[in-house]
Amino acid sequence: MSLSAGLFITFEGIDGAGKSTHIASIARAFEATGRRVVLTREPGGTPLAEKLRGLVLNDPMDPLCESLLVFAARRDHLAQVIEPALADGAVVLCDRFTDATFAYQGHGRGFDLRVLEQLEAWVQRDAHGNLRQPDLTVWFDLPAAVAAERLASARVPDRFESQPQAFFQRVASGYAARAAQAPQRFARIDADQPRDAVAEAVRRAFAQRGWLPSS
Ligand code: TYD
Repeated sequence: MSLSAGLFITFEGIDGAGKSTHIASIARAFEATGRRVVLTREPGGTPLAEKLRGLVLNDPMDPLCESLLVFAARRDHLAQVIEPALADGAVVLCDRFTDATFAYQGHGRGFDLRVLEQLEAWVQRDAHGNLRQPDLTVWFDLPAAVAAERLASARVPDRFESQPQAFFQRVASGYAARAAQAPQRFARIDADQPRDAVAEAVRRAFAQRGWLPSS
């Protein structure tokens, strides 16, 4: 259900799934149709949320603290950026959102999923009681072993990127569980393909919904 004229699209997947370049090309494609695009990320997207991001990615803390901080960042991001942009009819492209919390803090860290559901309701419910959810979540699905190979050559790892492969296997299964709960919201992209094939699959997900012309 869309609560506004805007479009709220999130991009998800384990570290190393390669979503960044695809988000940028979808942004350009929407702009080419004349729509206003807001490109943002989580944790982050506002000055306060970016400060919280720095803490979450670098400072040791327990999973409850991690969950509270990512939801605090999300609250500010929704209030300051996402909701105003959607009310204005923009296309909001967000690099990660709440599915990442269920996948990383819930399945990865083993934190209580029911507590996360409560936080989700507190943070994402508006004054009329509607729960804000993405109109579409593009899920880059990649085996943890392939992601680990790709990450091996990456820059200095943060608190998540330095986790063992078993952690990312749990995170990947967390995404699969979220997708199974809301299959209409998710577009699963097989990210274990050459970059051009992944780009084509992403583009198709938008074309199928009538949001972008097929390339
Ligand atoms: P990421 O989105 O991969 O950005 P970059 O490509 O710049 O590293 O990094 C964000 C990290 O934060 C990623 O490892 C997942 C983690 N994360 C959570 O653990 N919980 C959350 O709710 C969100 C949004 C992200």
